[in-house]
Amino acid sequence: MTEKTNKKSNERLKIAIVTGASSGLGKRFALYSHMFFPDIDEVWLVGRNEQRLLHTSKFVRSNTRIFALDLTDEDELKGLTDSLKDVDPDIRLLINSAGCGYMGRFDVISTEDNIRMVDINCRALTMLTSICINYMHKDSRIINLASAAAFICQSNFAVYAATKSYVLSLSDALSKELRHKKIYVTAVCPGAVNTPFFDTADKYEKIKKFKKLFMSKEKYVVIKALWDSKKKKNRSVYGLHMKMFYLACKLLPRKLMMMFV
Ligand SMILES: NC(=O)c1ccc[n+]([C@@H]2O[C@H](COP(=O)([O-])OP(=O)(O)OC[C@H]3O[C@@H](n4cnc5c(N)ncnc54)[C@H](OP(=O)(O)O)[C@@H]3O)[C@@H](O)[C@H]2O)c1
Repeated sequence: MTEKTNKKSNERLKIAIVTGASSGLGKRFALYSHMFFPDIDEVWLVGRNEQRLLHTSKFVRSNTRIFALDLTDEDELKGLTDSLKDVDPDIRLLINSAGCGYMGRFDVISTEDNIRMVDINCRALTMLTSICINYMHKDSRIINLASAAAFICQSNFAVYAATKSYVLSLSDALSKELRHKKIYVTAVCPGAVNTPFFDTADKYEKIKKFKKLFMSKEKYVVIKALWDSKKKKNRSVYGLHMKMFYLACKLLPRKLMMMFV
């Protein structure tokens, strides 16, 4: 029997892993997790920018470890998987917040950027979840950052919306599959949130001014997501206008919604 199977889950270090912790929503998740999951001993912060991760770590209440790596690079990811093997923690919370999006027409966005969205939003999230699931136990949580863009296909945001539909679909299925292990999955589906996301997103096309008026504040989105995860909900949709959009996507004909979007 391996050391891993010998150890009881209450003897293990209880950790949260937060990707995208250097910025925006991921950073807030790292800061607020302890409010909803106070039993966490350590928060592992993942992102490429080490300085910004260090900055996040200064404000996290519990101990932290920094993993400055590109999640789309399997060699770099090894730094994290090796630590998981060494520590053999009990992952109480996995928050997949790393992601990116580029607005604009598919044929205008470079091939490299179209693939970058798939790699980070889908491939890296799937790989990390698949690795981490082996360290999760009863009452662990997975929070995946999908988007309201997952509810319906979107022209001028085609690849991004498709990647987020993937995240939503995967999360819904995992939520069902993992219930017997009492591991709970929540897909977070916000509309536009005021984060540095749009510094990258508007590389090819500027965000419409009216959209800026409806941007949510990141802290409210994150607090609702953590609350919904605590309550074992499989979806977290913040704000009345997004809830109405969600309902409309469910009830109205797809063609009509596509015209509206
Ligand atoms: N803001 C919105 O309007 C909005 C709405 C709905 C959903 N979302 C989703 O919410 C999540 C967080 O977005 P945000 O608004 O917080 O954006 P953000 O401020 O731009 O943060 C994105 C994070 O992802 C990390 N990241 C990107 N590529 C990475 C890579 N290859 N390897 C490791 N880390 C990587 C970045 O870290 P480094 O730069 O340090 O690598 C950064 O910490 C994303 O999945 C996004 O799609 C955002």
